[in-house]
Amino acid sequence: MPLARAPLVVKLFGEHAVVYGYHALAAALNLKVEVKVEPSSSREYVIESALGVERLRDIRADSPRHRYIVQSLRVVSSDILGRDIEPVKITVNSPVPPSCGLATSAAVTAATLAALLKYLNIKVDRAYLAELSHKVEVLVQGRASPMDTYTSVMGGLVLIYPRGGEISRLSLTPRVDLSLVLVQRVKTTKDLVAHVYAMYTRYREIVEKIFELIDEICLKSLNALTKLNIDELGMLMYVNHNLLSALGVSNHYVDSLISYFRQSGVLGAKMSGAGDGGTIVILGKISEDLERKAREILRDRYLAYISSVCIDYSGIEIAR
Ligand code: MEV
Repeated sequence: MPLARAPLVVKLFGEHAVVYGYHALAAALNLKVEVKVEPSSSREYVIESALGVERLRDIRADSPRHRYIVQSLRVVSSDILGRDIEPVKITVNSPVPPSCGLATSAAVTAATLAALLKYLNIKVDRAYLAELSHKVEVLVQGRASPMDTYTSVMGGLVLIYPRGGEISRLSLTPRVDLSLVLVQRVKTTKDLVAHVYAMYTRYREIVEKIFELIDEICLKSLNALTKLNIDELGMLMYVNHNLLSALGVSNHYVDSLISYFRQSGVLGAKMSGAGDGGTIVILGKISEDLERKAREILRDRYLAYISSVCIDYSGIEIAR
């Protein structure tokens, strides 16, 4: 049965500032979402994931739980086949829960499209797959930057500069060991993006200076990654985190933990993604003691600690 595996994506630098046209750097991770497509044994489209099992008679029906998957079925039908795809069963396996700041929706979308195209025996190149995946995200969300879908399809390190209309996979392939602490979110990405917009309209000169600093940090990180200057990379992560905190998108749990990590000699750490929890990305591993401390500080917001994560350079993988 056709199976596609798409990497989850972490924002290393530049989230929020990227919405205003500044640089951001994303990395694909060796944590992959797996999507399998097979014929449906009934006349219904069946979708099975950690969110439950859903059965639809029509791909135009509403699917509150699996909107990205149903939209992928619609896009393959309209843009590729010119007719509705026959009923299929789609099974999703993800190593992390949804909405934890690791672009699960982008990875699920890219893997669903790739597995569906393989099922239909249709070959497309990665650039087109990234374009189709971005189209699905825009149709579901209304607005979306191509950063997450592009990085999930291509793999590696991706630099985006919306102001110059640029998105590129870097030729750099540093081996960087990361770990992640997943933190329960309360606010949504939409709330947090709206909060930054409110700050921007009220304190434009200040917020623009913060964005400019984030932009400078993002560009400096390329130099640190090229030279594998881990100390500098870590320092840049801490400073980027504190600038995000200044924008008001972190919370006291995450800020306390990151400042504890810094004082304990952890090389680098920052929130990643929209904020209010989600993912904390850490340079290197943390000790068992620090992990215990993380649970203590985050209390019921603590979800998981994942160590030995590295940057994935293979991008989406498709198998039959
Ligand atoms: C969310 O993962 C990253 C943000 O920069 C929003 C976006 O880029 O669309 C906060």
